[in-house]
Amino acid sequence: MLEELVGESTSVNLNGKVVELPVVTGSEGEKGLDVSQLRKESGYITLDPAYGNTGACESSICFIDGEKGILRYWGIPIEQLAEKSSFIETTYLLLYGKLPSQQELTQLSQRISKNLTIPDLVKKLYSNFSDETHPMALLSAVVSALSGYDKKQSSLEQSEVDIDETSIRLIGQFPAIAAAIYRKKIGKEFIEPDPKATYTENLVRMMFGETDLEKQITPEAIEALDMLLILHADHEQNCSTSAVQLVGSSRTNLYASIAAGIAALWGPWHGGANQDVMVMLQKIKDSGGDVQKYVEIAKDKNSKVRLSGFGHRVYKTFDPRAKVIKSVCDKVLEKMGVNNPLLEIAKELEQTALQDEYFIQRKLYPNVDFYSGIIYKAIGIPTDMFTVMFAMGRLPGWIAHWKEMLTSKPSRIGRPRQIYVGPTKTDYTPVDQRS
Ligand code: SDX
Repeated sequence: MLEELVGESTSVNLNGKVVELPVVTGSEGEKGLDVSQLRKESGYITLDPAYGNTGACESSICFIDGEKGILRYWGIPIEQLAEKSSFIETTYLLLYGKLPSQQELTQLSQRISKNLTIPDLVKKLYSNFSDETHPMALLSAVVSALSGYDKKQSSLEQSEVDIDETSIRLIGQFPAIAAAIYRKKIGKEFIEPDPKATYTENLVRMMFGETDLEKQITPEAIEALDMLLILHADHEQNCSTSAVQLVGSSRTNLYASIAAGIAALWGPWHGGANQDVMVMLQKIKDSGGDVQKYVEIAKDKNSKVRLSGFGHRVYKTFDPRAKVIKSVCDKVLEKMGVNNPLLEIAKELEQTALQDEYFIQRKLYPNVDFYSGIIYKAIGIPTDMFTVMFAMGRLPGWIAHWKEMLTSKPSRIGRPRQIYVGPTKTDYTPVDQRS
């Protein structure tokens, strides 16, 4: 039974034993009960499947207010970063906790430009995967394999400088890793990066160079891609960032931790949704464009179908990122002279769902994945590469939280408890005595 909130702590009476629970208040007024001593003092643990009510840590990197649709990186609103910043500048912000001076930004760009390519042996790795392998499987495998080029296999052996070096190297290599996946898909050779090009220009160049698509990539498309990377760069304790932190807490290396994050992001309920949205919109189009029919299917629990790109654990109103992406969709498509009927279907689907009691009652709104695929597709990125783009954007956020976990006090291995509900003590019976 919870007694009165007394000052900055409360107490809970468990079978006559009163346990003090300190109240933790965040800089935006969020309140939490610190239960870190609960088991030691009472033998009780808390139970919260899928961690909907559980804070894993205190963090300064990203703030989300799900009721108000607020998202900030180190206090800076995502709308301002999307409009005014660049992905590399936002990367600096996430990694070092402040916007860079011009000199710091130039230095970071130069450090990244020195790390744009991947070892020849890693390039050979791609040819050993079947053409059916999903790009996210290849991405996770290649990132993990890059640990073989870092002498220190555990973060315990690495100094802060080592970790910073490894972080910048991986961020620099990511466009080449992603582009090489695409080049393998289309059966073309790897294109070496151009150190004079910007990060996003290089990505586009290494993917589409020497193909017909290269001509259609306009400066607006590159700007839109850079904005998408900013919008995907961080999102506090989401599934994949939590995976990166949990795996990293065992003191394995950054590559292994990021490979785990990539694997988690792949899932259709997480970053894989951006690919599923396009599949869903195409399915609606191919079956005659009956949006209402699809919404009904998504409401039917037995269908096991969900409206991809809709709903969120934290946002109970519009995902601010979805608002930004939707607002630039029309402009990017018009500038690129691309007409994608799926955009109109997406808008109709959104309107239909937002007026439907099922979605209203559950506060299900479009999330970051609902419109992003429209822009990726307009640029020429194939659907199964969408989540690779999400991972590229999220990389600095994953690294920032991985570093924050390692330097937090105390920084222990992540190891949740459980409530056991299986059979009580049962003796072994020889096989000839079993029924
Ligand atoms: C991302 O966490 C992050 O920050 C993630 C992310 C990031 O930047 O890292 O924002 C990126 O992953 C965005 C989400 C992308 N995923 C999708 O678009 C997949 C579709 N959405 C859902 O599967 C779902 O909404 C989740 C996974 C996103 C959130 O799931 P929750 O919070 O666990 O909600 P839930 O499964 O408990 O659903 C609550 C109710 C259920 O119905 P009831 O049991 O109450 O009757 O809402 C229903 C669900 O069936 N529901 C949906 C739905 N999403 C939830 N019904 C139909 N379509 C949907 N999309």
